[in-house]
Amino acid sequence: MSIVAIIGLQWGDEGKGKITDVLAADADLVVRFQGGANAGHTLVVGSKVIRSHLIPSGILHKDKISVIGSGCVFDPEIFDKELTTLKKLKIKTGKIVISNNAHVVFPFHKLMDGLKEAHLGKAAIGTTKMGIGPCYSDRVNRIGIRVSEIINSKNLKSLLIKNIDEKNFMLKHRYKQRPISLKKMLDWAEKYKEIIKGYTGDTEVLINDYADKSRKILFEGAQGTFLDLEWGTYPYVTSSNTIAGNIYLGGGLSPKYKINVIGVVKAYSTRVGNGPFPGELDGEISELLREKGNEYGATTGRPRRVGWLNLDLLKFAVLMNGVSSIALTKLDVLSGFDEIGVFTGTKNSGRKKNISKAFLKTNDLKLKLIKGWQPNLGDMDLYKELPKNAKSYIKFIEKFLNTKASIVSLGAQRSKYILREAIWK
Ligand code: GDP
Ligand code: IMO
Ligand code: MG
Repeated sequence: MSIVAIIGLQWGDEGKGKITDVLAADADLVVRFQGGANAGHTLVVGSKVIRSHLIPSGILHKDKISVIGSGCVFDPEIFDKELTTLKKLKIKTGKIVISNNAHVVFPFHKLMDGLKEAHLGKAAIGTTKMGIGPCYSDRVNRIGIRVSEIINSKNLKSLLIKNIDEKNFMLKHRYKQRPISLKKMLDWAEKYKEIIKGYTGDTEVLINDYADKSRKILFEGAQGTFLDLEWGTYPYVTSSNTIAGNIYLGGGLSPKYKINVIGVVKAYSTRVGNGPFPGELDGEISELLREKGNEYGATTGRPRRVGWLNLDLLKFAVLMNGVSSIALTKLDVLSGFDEIGVFTGTKNSGRKKNISKAFLKTNDLKLKLIKGWQPNLGDMDLYKELPKNAKSYIKFIEKFLNTKASIVSLGAQRSKYILREAIWK
């Protein structure tokens, strides 16, 4: 199949960036279809560590086209920073196309994000403060400003007046802040118009043209299934749909094309930000997992909450995304544990009517302990070289999910993975 998608099946940070970078070697287009600079995708190539927030993780392959699709919220400041970093690292990048339809994240979106979170106090979502919620809210409120309106700035002033009107009311009366300056925002837009104007286009035309010619398209998800606006742990979610179904909307891909969905599953669970996290651990094991897995947010640097795998939730994620196989990442991090836990369902006492399993407490879950292994997996290249217990762990997951692990990732480096079946079929 010539269309492949990389989708996170947990709460983000599953290792989507690495898997995208690996599979991009054989792709023609690499497309982001939702989210914005809230994403933090880490790519490790030789001694270089590249963190991409907005530009697709295929960018390191110079002969590929990277697309920022219409379902994304586009932050010109971060885009400019990422381009500058790539240039500094002397990385030759491929062509980039930003959808004319993508909504623009202005500095005031980030300001409003931070003020709202502070106002919510204990009830805060724990957002990345990258302006994602406020920008998507403007889109739904029909006062958003799109990339095309920055480029063709004829109506920009009137659009901005309409956009900042309510915000200035909130800034003055609720937050006791200075109003947004229209002039400053027009100057800001003018500055970034010059930077982005060579990169914009009708990405839906490009994507469907490539699909029609059976050229290879790789869609790169951001965040994860349980941060999906509709299907995640609402309201502790992001403001876009992260699941594969959104590729047709946010990517603009015609529904006549089928997608081979690869679900990315970290070998244990993490979550950053607030909200329910059934499977979360505290104490010694969680500290060990956090340190061994270097579980600190790529966007905000916050320590990630950690836990064992929740297989029941993963089953739901496999269904909701139409996953055909999984990429199991960070298996190497589990080396050295005598026993590894997996949550396999709900205890009778924890069964609650009409409550999604994603809202349960760890105490409500059934825990199964699986024997661990000691050897470091980082130097292994073949599936058959893996310790018996590591293979049993993989098999247990595959059986529970009725889904094969087509990729097993054993380190952050681009080269550290085992491919068990062809992805581009
Ligand atoms: P993403 O948001 O899903 O792209 O994931 P992040 O980049 O935020 O977090 C994954 C982290 O794990 C990054 O630091 C990666 O470099 C690293 N990583 C990815 N795959 C592996 C792996 O198989 N083993 C180890 N040890 N690290 C990995
Ligand atoms: P990647 O693509 C992990 C979380 C935030 C917060 C919630 C809402 O690297 O997997 P937002 O700023 O989107 O309004 O925050 O979503 N969040 C992520 N958590 N990985 C991400 O992206 C995330 N993007 C947002 O921590 O809980
Ligand atoms: Mg991340």
